[in-house]
Amino acid sequence: MNGVTDQLRHPGPEDHPNLVAAVRTWWGDSRTPEQAQALSLLLPRLFLEHFAGTSLLAEEDGRLHGFLVGFHSQDHAAQAYIHFVGIDPEFRGRGLARRLYETFFAAARAAGRTEVHAITSPANTNSIAFHTKLGFEVSAPQPDYDGPGEDRVHLRRVLA
Ligand SMILES: CC(C)(COP(=O)(O)OP(=O)(O)OC[C@H]1O[C@@H](n2cnc3c(N)ncnc32)[C@H](O)[C@@H]1OP(=O)(O)O)[C@@H](O)C(=O)NCCC(=O)NCCS
Repeated sequence: MNGVTDQLRHPGPEDHPNLVAAVRTWWGDSRTPEQAQALSLLLPRLFLEHFAGTSLLAEEDGRLHGFLVGFHSQDHAAQAYIHFVGIDPEFRGRGLARRLYETFFAAARAAGRTEVHAITSPANTNSIAFHTKLGFEVSAPQPDYDGPGEDRVHLRRVLA
């Protein structure tokens, strides 16, 4: 199916409860309820109030299949940043995340951005493998990047 039948649209604040519920459900089988709740706190409503125009939802018949939350950097005029991406486990592996990323890349290019950045945990080997497949360079782990014990790798992709 290649994820082509999903409709893409920008989210709004009214989508926030649905996104929080999605994170808690989609990650529910690989994490404890407390861990899934902690993960959903990475998506406060402010992202849908101030960065909706650069974020995307994928849905079919009103059912959420995936989302990408990102923005164009305020401080680095060449950069766009992807903060969070998630695909419903039932709809993974059919090109939906690639489609969300390519749509985000196109909008970033159109806005004059030449690089896309993201951060992930060195332990998130799936995220690193996925981003590598999408052409991101992966930095060495940066110790304590997000606080004591919170190492991160930096992902960077140049927009052709
Ligand atoms: C990572 C994730 C977003 C990928 O979504 P998806 O819709 O299944 O990805 P796609 O089908 O668009 O895959 C795009 C490419 O990445 C590759 N890919 C995806 N997940 C991969 C993995 N775990 N390992 C290796 N390659 C992977 C695919 O093979 C595909 O390659 P191709 O286009 O050359 O065939 C999804 O698995 C997910 O939501 N994971 C949990 C959340 C997460 O880790 N998010 C990232 C950090 S916030």
